[in-house]
Formats: sequence, structure tokens, C-alpha cells
Amino acid sequence: MDKLSEVKKLNLGCGPVQPEDWTNVDGSNRAKLASKLPWLDSLLQKAGLIGETEFGPHIDILDLSKDLPYESNSIDAIYAGELWEHFEYEKAEHLTRECARVLKPGGVLRVCVPDCEEIWNTYLELVQQEKAKPAEQRSDEKIVAHVKMYFDDICTRRIWLGSMGHTHKWNYDEVQLISMFQRCGLNDVERGKFHQSRIEDVQKVERSDFLIVEGVAG
Ligand SMILES: C[S@@+](CC[C@H](N)C(=O)[O-])C[C@H]1O[C@@H](n2cnc3c(N)ncnc32)[C@H](O)[C@@H]1O
Repeated sequence: MDKLSEVKKLNLGCGPVQPEDWTNVDGSNRAKLASKLPWLDSLLQKAGLIGETEFGPHIDILDLSKDLPYESNSIDAIYAGELWEHFEYEKAEHLTRECARVLKPGGVLRVCVPDCEEIWNTYLELVQQEKAKPAEQRSDEKIVAHVKMYFDDICTRRIWLGSMGHTHKWNYDEVQLISMFQRCGLNDVERGKFHQSRIEDVQKVERSDFLIVEGVAG
């Protein structure tokens, strides 16, 4: 049996989150270097040109904007933490459809992304709180900090030698993400709670409590 056909649980866009009994998949440039040319990676590390990495040959290197190289109905569970927002909307829908295809009937897809409803609600609340004050008592401090957080962490831009070349390309809310799952053929789609999942050992891969949506392949 080849490696891919043994795979049961996929952790897509794993980054540094790499539990042993999951198949951890990433496509960053650093993951490629450490996986395909580990000797060059450690040479560059020793020369002080790059830092340490959790990536290595144990990671599956895939460009997740392309078709998944797994057979249909072959996977039990797929988790993706803070990955969907790295794709243009159409590419994210393609990946959702691919996940629905490779999951066995009853297999679970679970995705966690930044919650833009919450982020933009907070922005509006901050602005309205200040507008409710007399002009001379207003302060823009909290609003500036919130907008800075948005551009630093949510609406990220390309930094060539940082962020592994990846950027965020879409913002989600519960309505959009649930609709996308349903359109791609997933059933029983609902917003999930942190670490509460049909995937038994989800706590091994889930480290953020943002907008979480889970659905079941039919
Ligand atoms: C923010 S990290 C998330 C890490 C981890 N899953 C977590 O929950 O903390 C996003 C990861 O997705 C990977 N990624 C982004 N676009 C990708 C693509 N097209 N193909 C494969 N991996 C990708 C990045 O390399 C990065 O490691």
C-alpha cells in the first residue's frame, strides 16, 4: 500500500501543528525546502541565514490550491486551521469540494478561520462608543489599534522573505462559510465550538477558537 492510500486524517496547512498520527500537509516554501532538501535547509540554518523549523521530510508537501492527490471516499477526517482565508474565494470553494470528494461517507471536514463578523462588529462598536461622546472627549486610540490589528493579522500582505510568501485573500463569516460547505455537498453543516467535534482527537490540531464550521460528507 502506498503512503497516500494509508492516510486517514489530514491536517491541511499544518504549519507547526504536526501531531504524529495525523497526515500533516503544507505547501510553504520553507516546508518545501526542509522536506525536499533537508541538507540545504540545515546548511542555511548553520550559516545563520534562516531560523529553525518544525518542517521536515515527515510533512506532505502539497499546493492546496490544486486538486487533492487522494482517492475519492478514502479519508476519515480533514481539519484546516487558519488556511481557508489564504485562498481566493473560488479556490477555497474548489478545496472545499475536493475535501468533500476525498472524504468517506460520514467523514468530517472542519475549518477554522478568522471571524470577520466579530472583527467588524468590534470596529463599529468602537467607533460608535466614541461618536456617543462629546467631540472634545473622543479618542481614536482603540480604533487605530483595532485597524492596525486588522491589517497586521487579518488582511495580511505579502512579505517576500517573511510569512512564507503566503497572504490572506478572503474574509469569512458564519453565513458565507456554512453556505460554501453546503454548496460543495457537505451535510449537517453547523458552526462548531472549540474542541467539540465529531473528530475525536480534534484538540491535537485545533489551536484557535475563531469561526469554526464543521460538516459531514454524504
Ligand atoms: C496560519 S498557518 C496555520 C497553521 C496551523 N494550521 C494553525 O492552525 O495554527 C497557515 C498555513 O497554511 C499554509 N498554506 C497557505 N497556503 C497554502 C497552499 N496553497 N498550499 C499549502 N499550504 C498552504 C501555510 O504555509 C501555513 O503554514
